[in-house]
Formats: sequence, structure tokens, C-alpha cells
Amino acid sequence: MTSTVKTTDRIPVKEALCEESIGKKVKICGWVRTRRDSKAGFSFIELNDGSSFNSIQVVAPKELDNYESEILNAGIGSSLEILGEVVESPGKGQATEVKADSVKVLGFADPKEYPLQKKGTSFEFLRTIGHLRPRTNTFGAVARVRNEICRAIHEFFQSRGFVYVHTPIITGSDCEGAGQMFKVTTFDLDDVPRKEKSNEIDFEQDFFGRQTNLTVSGQLEAEIYATALSNVYTFGPTFRAENSNTSRHLSEFWMIEPEMAFCDLEGDMDVAEAFLKHIFSSVLKNCPDDMNFFNQRIDKTVIETLTAIVESDFHRLSYTEAIEILEKSGESFEFPVKWGIDLQSEHERYLTEKKFKKPVIVYDYPREIKAFYMRLNEDGKTVRAMDVLVPKVGEIIGGSQREERLDVLKERMIDCDLNPEEYWWYLDLRRYGTVPHAGFGLGLERTVQFVTGMANIRDVIPFPRAPKTADF
Ligand code: 4AD
Ligand code: MG
Repeated sequence: MTSTVKTTDRIPVKEALCEESIGKKVKICGWVRTRRDSKAGFSFIELNDGSSFNSIQVVAPKELDNYESEILNAGIGSSLEILGEVVESPGKGQATEVKADSVKVLGFADPKEYPLQKKGTSFEFLRTIGHLRPRTNTFGAVARVRNEICRAIHEFFQSRGFVYVHTPIITGSDCEGAGQMFKVTTFDLDDVPRKEKSNEIDFEQDFFGRQTNLTVSGQLEAEIYATALSNVYTFGPTFRAENSNTSRHLSEFWMIEPEMAFCDLEGDMDVAEAFLKHIFSSVLKNCPDDMNFFNQRIDKTVIETLTAIVESDFHRLSYTEAIEILEKSGESFEFPVKWGIDLQSEHERYLTEKKFKKPVIVYDYPREIKAFYMRLNEDGKTVRAMDVLVPKVGEIIGGSQREERLDVLKERMIDCDLNPEEYWWYLDLRRYGTVPHAGFGLGLERTVQFVTGMANIRDVIPFPRAPKTADF
């Protein structure tokens, strides 16, 4: 059967599901989710094209030319092109269905071989078929919510006049401190050139003439642009070679890093809070079907939690206050609590899930556990850092006011075993017209995890990279 409708005339299933489409002749395409054949001489095909959570019901009568030969063989996973009329659906739970005038099978999927059967698809199993999992309800919904979050992120910053800056992926600097970066080289690993006298690796002979890595953060470069354009943000992939096999760590993840000149830590916290609220309210507003699915099938509290967060203030407290609360909590933590420790996820979760039952911003951390660029407080012991913690996920944002005083910054670098000469350009920003400035980093995947309630971070990024995992 030849179709007389141009490809561009295809409408998304999402549109065919709307009552406004009733009475229209349309072309829709998609993949079969289920097919049921009635004795009365009809097949009912649930067709999904990813444009919405819901599939559309296509009714194919046995009078169609290819009914016996093709339609009755087009099972789950097969791809179809339908020409037909959108009609009011007599069935429950859907406003419309499509009465097919023709059903063209674009590609069959052998039902005996197709890995995505209705049952028996655990998330672990689906990770092994990363090329097919986006066709499931869950992964389709994750992809659409992730997309909405990204849209809302750009909307938030663009509507406030922030300039989107692209920072490099291959970098010569180490933002967060040594020991967790992927090296970038074109050296033959069997024959790495070495310096004659010292026998050290001779990076001058490498591609860039120096040692380079995949970036762990675009922050330092974002600071360059903030000290010229005032308010900027980055949004790109970042890489960490830590051997962390947890449900909250990836080796490749996406980070959003705003950087604001003429801004202190309070301003930084205000922006972070408004930013998260904007993301959450956008998803609630624009992805109702996907969110209802997560709320029913993944985590029965997500909608209630997000709604409450949008409507109330985050709780802010200093690190020192947080330690006092943890010490008095009466909980038996695996990692003992005392001033100076880095907060572990069990501590973060106690604060946000049990104590305050809402997002918490902890600020003024001990200098020893934070990066060199954070502004030193008057007490000499703490720095102007802040982390935003949320229930279940823990740290979702890490940020700080930056050290804008040249002499203090140099000292901190030396303290942290960094060579100030290598950061000459970073120091120049303090040498020439230094200004107070602040920023933060939001982990995109932790955000998607929090919004959807998905337990494992590897299920909220299309192709997860983690230790011993780089398939697809
Ligand atoms: O706290 P982090 O390391 O902060 C920075 O990189 C700063 N340069 C940000 C800034 O001030 N501009 O990372 C920021 C966020 C974390 O709060 C977390 O949400 C996420 O990035 N993150 C990870 N997400 C997934 N897997 C990992 N291994 C992550 N490490 C950090
Ligand atoms: Mg952090």
C-alpha cells in the first residue's frame, strides 16, 4: 500500500491523543507496545512514539489488505505507519483512538527474540540493553523529564540575563584538587617518551605539549567570564575518575555552574534556592503524565515532596550548627561525628530527611575539607562554602563565595600543594580589578534522580559511565 501523505505530515501521538484532533485524518508512526486481536475482526494496537507517556489505541479492521499477512504478525516492538481518522474512543482512560485506513509495517520485530517483553525487565537487566531501554515507559519518562529540566535550567538563567559560556572539556588545570582526573594523551602507552636525566614522562612531546585531562568542572574558566560579563553559567559534561561504585556517582556527568560577580555567599544561596524551585515547578507543570507515573510506580512521595519544596523555604544552617545537631541526635552513625569531618551521606540524610524534612543548605565548612578557591572567613578556620542537601540524594549542589584577595588565595594554594605559577591566569583575575564573586555547581543527574525518585543514578542518564562500565 503506498502512502500519499508526506513524511512531514506525520503528527506526534501526543497530538492525536488530544480531543481537538477528533474528526481529523492523520498519519501517525511509532512502535507497537501491545496488540490484541478480537474475534469480531479487529486488532487493537497500542502505539507509542515517545512524544508522550501515553500510547494511542489504533483500531485495525480485518478488511485491510494486509490484515492476515502483516498486521497479525506485527507484535511488540514492530514499527508502523498508520493512516486513519482520529475518533472519540469508547474505551476508558483515553479520549481518542485512531481508526486505521491503512497500516504499513515499517519493520517487524520477532516476538520470540525481542528483549523487551511485558514482564521480567528489571532496571539491572535494562542496563544491559541500553540501546532498547528508552522504548520502555520508565526510560521514556526519564528522558522527557531530563529534557524538561534542561529546558527549565536555560530558561531560569536566560530570563535573568546570564550568559551561557562554553568551557573546555580538555583542560590543563585541575579545579577541585589532584588525584581524580582522566588523562588525555596521544602517547603510545607501550612507549611513553621520558626525559633523559630525570626519567619523568616528557609531556612536551605529547599532543598539546603539556599534561592534559578531562575537566572535573568548568568553574575556573567560568570565573574568567564572570569577571568580564558579570553573570554567566556553564552547562556541560564533567569527568571524575574516582572509583566510587555508588547509586549517586557517575564518572561522566553533566554539571550546571553559574558564576556571579558582585555576589556574596548569601546571594549565592538565594540563587541556588530559586533555581531549584524553578526546575521543580517547571517539571510539575509541564510533565504531569510522566510525574504521575513516577509517583505511582517508582516513589509514592515525589509529587508531594516537590510541591512542598516549591512552596517553602530551605533551611539554612552553618556547618558548626549541623555538627552540634548531629552530635546530639542520638543516632548511631557509621562515621563518627566531630567538628572537622567531611559530612557523609548518612549525616546529610539525617539532616534533610529526619531533622528538617526539607532541603537544607549547610554553609561555612572547615577549610581543610574544601577546595583552595573558597573564601576564607575571619575565624581563619572556615570557608564560605555551601552545599544544598535534599532528601534521599544528599548533596545536589556544591558552591562557594570565591577568594578574591590575591595574597590569601596564594597562601591557600600553597597550603593545598598547588603551584601558584600554574594558575597565573586565575591569579590575574585578582590582580586586575578583583571583585567579590560566587557560584555553585548543580549535578544534573542528581537532580533528575531527585525529581523522578529513581533509585540509581545510572538509570537517569542515557549512557552511564562508571567504573568498569562504558557500554553503548
Ligand atoms: O561539589 P562539586 O564537586 O563542586 C564543584 O565541582 C564546584 N566546582 C562547583 C562550583 O562551585 N562551580 O560538584 C557539584 C555537584 C555536586 O553537588 C553533585 O550534585 C554533582 O556535582 N556531582 C556528581 N554527580 C554525579 N556523579 C559524581 N561523581 C558527582 N560529583 C559531583
Ligand atoms: Mg561537593
